[in-house]
Amino acid sequence: MTNNNQEELQARNKILEFENKKCIQIIEVGLELASQVELEKLFPLVIAKVTDVIEAERSSLFLCDYETNELWSMVAEGIKTKEIRVPFDQGIVGHVANTGECLNIEDAYDCKLFNRTIDKKTGYRTKSILCVPLKNRQNKILGVLQVLNKKGRNVFSKLDEDFLKLLAGQIAVYIENASLYTQIENLFENVVSAIAIAIDERDPVTAGHSRRVTALTMQIAKAMHLSEDERFKDIHFTRDEFKELRYACLLHDLGKVGVPEEILQKAQKLPTNWINVIEQRLGRVYAEALLKSMNGDNEAKEFIDKKLPDPEECICFLKKVNTLGFLDDESAQKIDDLLKLSIIDQKEHDYFSIKKGTLNKKELAIMQSHVTKTQSVLNAISWPEGMKNIAKIAGSHHESPDGSGYPFHRNDKDIPLGGKIMAVADVYDALTARDRPYKPAIPHEKSAEIIRGMAERKKLDINIVNFFLEHNLYKIKNKPSHRTTMIFNER
Ligand SMILES: [Fe+2]
Repeated sequence: MTNNNQEELQARNKILEFENKKCIQIIEVGLELASQVELEKLFPLVIAKVTDVIEAERSSLFLCDYETNELWSMVAEGIKTKEIRVPFDQGIVGHVANTGECLNIEDAYDCKLFNRTIDKKTGYRTKSILCVPLKNRQNKILGVLQVLNKKGRNVFSKLDEDFLKLLAGQIAVYIENASLYTQIENLFENVVSAIAIAIDERDPVTAGHSRRVTALTMQIAKAMHLSEDERFKDIHFTRDEFKELRYACLLHDLGKVGVPEEILQKAQKLPTNWINVIEQRLGRVYAEALLKSMNGDNEAKEFIDKKLPDPEECICFLKKVNTLGFLDDESAQKIDDLLKLSIIDQKEHDYFSIKKGTLNKKELAIMQSHVTKTQSVLNAISWPEGMKNIAKIAGSHHESPDGSGYPFHRNDKDIPLGGKIMAVADVYDALTARDRPYKPAIPHEKSAEIIRGMAERKKLDINIVNFFLEHNLYKIKNKPSHRTTMIFNER
């Protein structure tokens, strides 16, 4: 082999070695893009790598905003300004975005497209520029990748162009995937929110309940996550866990779609016309006794004087009991007496004797079955990894640490944290809600007292209730939103 041949071979080997090194660096960029690093942290790292691979002084990544027909700087090395915006028809990046062409410029100051404003502001001297478009699979321009000032030499080579195009291709694929993922996430979020609205709309009595419970629960969870409180030192939520809790909250009453309307919206123990029937019956009993008494029946006279209640007062009392949220012992005794006097029948007696709310045992069981329905519907959905507990969290919103909750009677250890937080938010909202016809809104102080009492009796988690009240977490700071923050915005 001649000396010339040997030198040529060595030179070729050097080039191959160099290209090999560059290829490895490009693969490393790909690996970096495939990592789980948050988007805001990932792009500066990737762009730094691009600068390194191309041996430039600095690089920038611009993305297209098709709403305003501008490019905005996702990363701009060496620039302190938060965001640079360039119209599509201006500057070098605008030209590349507009035409889809690659520009390789020896000296920026000789190029008419170059805008010197930033150089003037920063004192930097831009010389060589290499700028390539970022295209998706449909050839749509997503943005522009630009590198400035080739180190050591004046101009970027053809090889640099090829390498930068390769890097731009990788970044474009990543951006498109991230954008599609965000779109799917937003679509899913909107569907879940729409279902929550539909649940709440179905029952005007509890309008807005799902969204208020979600807002309260998320506020408590976020505060616990950030808290340095000894009680919650081991509690941390990942991004997925926050999302899981949010969806569980929005959908916690989903099973109510399977509860008949007459039970769901039942505001009175007895339908109104039943009261009229009792009124007529009472009138008849009174008239019969009066007639007998007038005919000299002393027993009938005594019945009217001592036992028969005043018809007007009696109806007034029954109407009050009919909508009463809680029946005291004295009223319960009066109801028993009316049954003995045959003023009400057994069925009516059982309705009037409902201690709490307006539902009898059978109706209450149907109403409470909404939790089982919620859990089984949510269980039937194939949730993505990291959100597998949605059904269990949602299905625990009426469970109690002492095991007396419903429908599963889970004990303290078996109730997921999200379910415990949601239970507090659910009870607090039910107490303070202004829209329930069967009870007035209970002021905060009284509601706080009630939930504190429930916590002491182990009906609610005591640490969560105390934390909720100590930190005024019942005051919603962030209004319930129908949309999540978009991580990557298709601008
Ligand atoms: Fe519920």
